[in-house]
Amino acid sequence: MDAFTDKKVLITGGLGFIGSNLAQRLLELGAVVTLVDSLIPEYGGNMFNIKDIESSVRVSISDIRDEHSMCYLVQEQDYVFNLAGQTSHMDSMKDPYTDLEINSRAQLSILEICRRYNPDTKIVFASTRQIYGKPDYLPVDEKHLLRPVDVNGVNKMAGEWYHILYNNVYGIHTCALRLTNTYGPRMRVKDARQTFLGIWIKLLVEGKPFEVWGGEQLRDFTYVDDVVQAFLLAAASEKSNGLAFNLGGCEVVSLKAAADMLALANGGGEFLMREFPADRKRIDIGDYYADDSLIQAVLGWEPRVPLKEGLKRTVDFYRQHLKKYL
Ligand SMILES: NC(=O)c1ccc[n+]([C@@H]2O[C@H](COP(=O)([O-])OP(=O)(O)OC[C@H]3O[C@@H](n4cnc5c(N)ncnc54)[C@H](O)[C@@H]3O)[C@@H](O)[C@H]2O)c1
Repeated sequence: MDAFTDKKVLITGGLGFIGSNLAQRLLELGAVVTLVDSLIPEYGGNMFNIKDIESSVRVSISDIRDEHSMCYLVQEQDYVFNLAGQTSHMDSMKDPYTDLEINSRAQLSILEICRRYNPDTKIVFASTRQIYGKPDYLPVDEKHLLRPVDVNGVNKMAGEWYHILYNNVYGIHTCALRLTNTYGPRMRVKDARQTFLGIWIKLLVEGKPFEVWGGEQLRDFTYVDDVVQAFLLAAASEKSNGLAFNLGGCEVVSLKAAADMLALANGGGEFLMREFPADRKRIDIGDYYADDSLIQAVLGWEPRVPLKEGLKRTVDFYRQHLKKYL
């Protein structure tokens, strides 16, 4: 892929899980990479995520809510990968205004800055399957009603649609990827703020039992390298402009089956089956898995890394580096 050779690329949320994996790949492809991240402790940003590439990227510790910083940072960028976000569903219920500021208002402000100062850039937005809410049918395709069940879902939905709107009205090239559960090296494992898989991995590697709530819910999981590839394809192609695409995984599994596979990847481990806590149950979406045939047809993307292999790579990473993520 030569679309990124010598191109200037900005990654918001670049010290986070997906952003740092994307940065590594973009450097391999010859891009000139700038990362912007606020390093708010409750979120997934971590300087250790860029340990191997630190001297090859420009890092700006700034908040995307700061219009002055963003105005400076987006200028002359050929691509903006817009991944900075508040990711916790529970936090969005406890503190809805912070989620609103980051996931909606700051997104609108980044788009306004691009419209005024860099209208030729291409922006790829990290959206989420959470915006569908509780599915009416499975697999969920992009025509499914958007009916989020939590504040985070509503704000991410607005963030996504601001991107699509700016494409349609102002001709700025944008698109969105609706990510499902993403996992892999560099994910936040300190707690369940990013995904329940994180806390499962932490406890497993520490030799402690983890809890599976419910257990029968169906999910698809995407390995981070596959997600990175989707971001690259979406950025490089004009065919993605104005579209939102689902990403899916190689297989659909119950949470109980995922827990079994994770323990196996670790060469052993215990977990306890528990009832869903009441506050989580209220915003649970039940079963979900994606129909990702649109991105397969338009951009030729498909998930490649099977869950068993991806979990093995992830557990191996945390067996080596867990301390840096606590
Ligand atoms: N990981 C998943 O399973 C998943 C699923 C659906 C959607 N997404 C979306 O993908 C994007 C990346 O997620 P991730 O899993 O890498 O999470 P992450 O928390 O590791 O990355 C997000 C990064 O954004 C940074 N950030 C947050 N608020 C900021 C602000 N105001 N200013 C500057 N930086 C800020 C954080 O410090 C963090 O490094 C997010 O927008 C998230 O909503 C992720």
